[in-house]
Formats: sequence, C-alpha cells, structure tokens
Amino acid sequence: MREGEASMTARRVAAHRLSFSREPCPWATSTQGADDDQRLQADVAAGVLVEPTPMAQYLQARTRFFDVVVVRSLDPGGDLGIDQAVSVGAGYDGRALRYARPSTRWFELDHPDTQSDKRARLDELGIATPDATFVPADFTVDDVGAALARAGHDPTRPTLFTCEGVAGYLSTDAIASLLAALGRVAAPGSRLAVTLPLEPESAEERHRRGRLDAAVSTMGEPLASAIPRAELGERLRASGWIVRRATDPAGVAIEQSPRSSAFVIAAPTEPLAETR
Ligand SMILES: C[S@@+](CC[C@H](N)C(=O)[O-])C[C@H]1O[C@@H](n2cnc3c(N)ncnc32)[C@H](O)[C@@H]1O
Repeated sequence: MREGEASMTARRVAAHRLSFSREPCPWATSTQGADDDQRLQADVAAGVLVEPTPMAQYLQARTRFFDVVVVRSLDPGGDLGIDQAVSVGAGYDGRALRYARPSTRWFELDHPDTQSDKRARLDELGIATPDATFVPADFTVDDVGAALARAGHDPTRPTLFTCEGVAGYLSTDAIASLLAALGRVAAPGSRLAVTLPLEPESAEERHRRGRLDAAVSTMGEPLASAIPRAELGERLRASGWIVRRATDPAGVAIEQSPRSSAFVIAAPTEPLAETR
C-alpha cells in the first residue's frame, strides 16, 4: 500500500460490490443495516469507475461466499451460532452493518491508513457502528492477537474470522504468521473463511494473474504471494487450521479446478490450550 493512503484495491472492491445482489439477513427486523452498508459502498465508490469484467464476476462469487459464511455462522438458529466475528483486512466491508445483531460483536482489523479513512466516511455519513470495534493493525509488523485482546476479543468463545481478498498482498511468511496469530485466539467451534491465491498452473491462469498484478501494481499494491496448490492443506495446518472445504470461485473442489484462487473454510486444529 502507498504510505499514508487508504487501500485503493479496497475502494475498487466496494465500487464493484455496490451493484451485487447480497445474501439476505435472516434475523434483520428492518433494512437499516443493509441500507447503511449500501450508503457506505456508494460513498467509497464515488469517482471510481468499474466495468462488468471477469474480475467483477469473480468478486460477485467472492462476496456471495463470504455473505453465506457469515449468515450461516452467526445465525442464532444455525449449527454454529457464533456471536463474535473478526473481519481481517476489512477494507470497506459493511457486513458488520448488514448482518448486525445486538448480541454479536464485530472486530474490524485493518491497516491504520485504510481504517481511518473508513471511520471518517462513516462519521461523515452519520452511520453509527455500535456493534463494531475498530482495531488498527499492520499485519507485517503488529501483534494481531495482542491487538484483538486489547480491543476486548474473547479467545475462550468461538469466533468467525473472515479474511477476504487480503492474502495476495502479503508475503507467504506474513500470511503464515497472521493465520497462526488468529489460530492462537480461536476457541474450539471457531471458523476461518479465507481466500488464498494459488500458483497458476496453466497459461490462461498465468495470463490472468499477470493482468491482475499489473492492475494492482499501478495502485501501489502489487501481488506478493501465491501458494502451491498441493501445499494448501499443509500450510494451513502449520498455522493451526484444518481445511474443512476448499473450492474455486465456482464451487469446484480446488484439487479438481484449474483456477488459481481458493475459497477456504477451516477450523482450529486443536482445543485452546490453558495458557492461551
Ligand atoms: C483488496 S482489499 C480487501 C478489503 C475487504 N476485505 C474486501 O473484500 O472488501 C485489501 C485489504 O487488505 C488490507 N491490507 C493490505 N496490506 C495490509 C497490511 N500489511 N496490514 C493490514 N491490512 C492490510 C488493506 O488495508 C485492504 O483493506
């Protein structure tokens, strides 16, 4: 990211997301949360031109994947019934508004430069966020677990961690230590939903990645990593997570897919240690 500037890639995601259909919130008693989210996305999108390219289709699939995970995980009547959510590298994600419940606490972890811009926009728009706690952190230098603890995250209760469209901008070492830090504060019953870039294995996928890298590099946010497909499970395990499901954006099992983007759901590998 450019020194002192909010993430431009996050602004572009918001501009795309403005036109996407979204998963309804089963527990919402009004459209207030969804309306506030749309107002935030519209504000961020002002002056950002996006077109209906294959990237837009990818982002629609990604948005739907995370919407569904959030609804299923936080639904009080569902199997998991989680009431703590951490949006890791939140950008302008408005799910803390759209899927708010008074009994669910959201923590938004993000780079300080992006987060301060988001908070200024929310203030300017008069959008209150009583269910969200903002936690600034640079994942390359800060202790994410300690930052969450200071913000009031409870490591003894299950958490839904979402990490959408972030990993590709971090080195493989930074991803590993970020996921390990989350794993250390993930009580049994927690879930991690994360998108991970894989090394392209075909000319088409190499071309696709090259185009994306060229585009995001001009925004000062070049791609920094990709994981070998065969090492996906092992890398997550080494960071304290067991893969429950890994698909491509179309929902095809990642081992059978030629695509180089993995949508992963994982659970913590072992029960929380007494000392953690
Ligand atoms: C492409 S945006 C995705 C934002 C959001 N998750 C979404 O899907 O709308 C990438 C996000 O990663 C964050 N990010 C990039 N590098 C970071 C770092 N070193 N520490 C913390 N956040 C970082 C940016 O601030 C930005 O919010």
